[in-house]
Amino acid sequence: MIHSKDIVGLYELSAEEIDELLTQGLAMKKLLRQNIKKLPHLMGKSVTTLFYENSTRTRCSFELAAKYMGAHVVNLSVATSSVQKGETLVDTGKTLDAMRNDVIVIRHPVGGAPKLLARTVKAHVVNAGDGMNEHPSQALLDMLTMREHWGSLKGKTVAILGDIRHSRVAKSNLYGLTKLGAKVRMFAPRTLMPQGLDTMGAEICSSREEAVEGADAVMGLRIQLERQHAGNFPSLGEYARFYGVNDEILKYAKKDALVMHPGPVNRGVELTSAVIDGENSVIEDQVLSGIAVRMSILFLLTKEEIA
Ligand code: CP
Repeated sequence: MIHSKDIVGLYELSAEEIDELLTQGLAMKKLLRQNIKKLPHLMGKSVTTLFYENSTRTRCSFELAAKYMGAHVVNLSVATSSVQKGETLVDTGKTLDAMRNDVIVIRHPVGGAPKLLARTVKAHVVNAGDGMNEHPSQALLDMLTMREHWGSLKGKTVAILGDIRHSRVAKSNLYGLTKLGAKVRMFAPRTLMPQGLDTMGAEICSSREEAVEGADAVMGLRIQLERQHAGNFPSLGEYARFYGVNDEILKYAKKDALVMHPGPVNRGVELTSAVIDGENSVIEDQVLSGIAVRMSILFLLTKEEIA
């Protein structure tokens, strides 16, 4: 049972709620593996995606998840909407409410925007990434992928490498994984490591080797190419050499460690091509988990009203 009207972050969810989202997500993934894409769970419901930032995986998978369960789906194109005429986020939300829309899936460059929207609309609000704050459905799909491989996350060690500072994925994973009993190690260039994550349960490492040693999963994070001239690291080549994930560094992890990346990946920067396409890589499987977990989110949020 999800107690909140909305899913704005994993910080706000209990371990029990996260566990239920994953359990339902695993059931959805089984159906997807059988190519079952016509389900009644959201029949009569309307879902709007409202993306103020670019996306491939998240927007497409929320749309497919909703459609596979029979919802009406609107993809509101912010670039051609009345947002361009100055309409505020809250007024856009109220307009969608007035249209009897049931769920708004929002991505916004400002941290906290989904929470503000959630407070002001009747519709369920799902955060699809807000600034540097959280990306809860991404972390849920990461955890779903891990749980499918391991059965349980308890006692497992996940190493997260890369641009932690700007990463909403890293923060949501930290909150979710630690709630389910996993250990999270983090390593980044000092310029890309924010302060305070140790107080949230992360083990901050001083080398790649220390982070990856004995890990059950190694997750690379996207380096925003737009930040490469911001002075956080000298060049992409040096970043790849000193901070990237390659076959050499993976020798420190468990032999069957999962190699993960939220995408989109910069080949040869965060991960070498050999690692991306290697036998431990579950990057494509993460994409399927993405649809499954978003089906779970949409279903569990609206379930009580349907029953
Ligand atoms: N992982 C992720 O959020 O990808 P998109 O930006 O393509 O949605």
